[in-house]
Amino acid sequence: MPTSEPIVEVRDVVRCFGQVRALDGVSLAFEPGIIYGLLGPNGAGKTTLIRVLATLLRPDRGTVRVAGVDVVADPTGARARIGLAGQFAAVDEFLTGRENVEMVGRLYGLSAAETRRRSDEVLARIGLTHAAGRQVGTYSGGMRRRLDLAASLVGRPQVMFLDEPTTGIDPRNRMELWELIEDLVRSGTTVLLTTQYLDEADRLAHRIGVIDRGTIVSEGTADELKDAVGGAVLQLRVADDRREEAVAILRRVSGEEATYLPRERHVRIPARHGSRTLLEAVRALDAVGIEPDDLALHKPSLDDVFLALTGEAATHALTEQEPQEP
Ligand SMILES: Nc1ncnc2c1ncn2[C@@H]1O[C@H](COP(=O)(O)OP(=O)(O)O)[C@@H](O)[C@H]1O
Ligand SMILES: [Mg+2]
Repeated sequence: MPTSEPIVEVRDVVRCFGQVRALDGVSLAFEPGIIYGLLGPNGAGKTTLIRVLATLLRPDRGTVRVAGVDVVADPTGARARIGLAGQFAAVDEFLTGRENVEMVGRLYGLSAAETRRRSDEVLARIGLTHAAGRQVGTYSGGMRRRLDLAASLVGRPQVMFLDEPTTGIDPRNRMELWELIEDLVRSGTTVLLTTQYLDEADRLAHRIGVIDRGTIVSEGTADELKDAVGGAVLQLRVADDRREEAVAILRRVSGEEATYLPRERHVRIPARHGSRTLLEAVRALDAVGIEPDDLALHKPSLDDVFLALTGEAATHALTEQEPQEP
């Protein structure tokens, strides 16, 4: 349970585009100081929700509060508390990195001196000081994303919205961005990020909301979501002539039905008590002299969760190429 007032609170939000119900009654709330991961396939409504949260789009129905401010009633107040970085970095090719960041500072109404000070600070923080004097046209995709992030940090937001921050960038830059996002949260910013990638949500998010067709279909920590799909599974392979005996033992130990997968020659059985079930199984098998060729405990992955909830296979990380940073 959240220990403080929620910093983001979305209630029954509906937003249609013509016939399309992009958001069909979304509700979610979370406390400050965490990374909240909004996980969903293409077209699920992630960007629409981010745009509503960032005051760029009015909801047809429902309420949205960010840092205690109603974004519809007081969009200016909300904007002063939030930062936004999108899937497509909104940076000007013809300006230098520093000029891009300073431009945003001036838009926030900061003085020239304050703008310069904060720009230095965020450029150092995202590791772009060395490239700050270069035109953005020469930057790699990863550097643009970082610059976009830096620009939104100039206003010192309480909450950052990151819409698919690592989509389409190479694995090395992806990991750098993950570290940057974790740094941000350590320094006190709350982050809501959207992603199509299970591994990203698993790695970064303290809490995850799975969104599909404009509604949140499940919510919790990565572990809670995995447990909801049925907890761990014990998998065993034994010699054919001992299989029936082994299955009977597993049934007794776990109290569940076993499944035999002939192709893999594996017996699978739910192991609700995880490693305790595993240990009991090992002891019981050993007592009758059964030595498994293979015995393993599997936690269901977020892939299993996603498949179970949305009936669709999940998206895996791209390994798309892009120019390397010089
Ligand atoms: N400006 C728009 N006009 C019409 N349809 C839109 C618009 N923006 C989004 N949609 C539709 O709303 C749904 C959700 O889109 P979006 O929020 O972009 O999903 P996601 O970001 O999860 O991929 C999709 O069916 C999309 O085609
Ligand atoms: Mg999107």
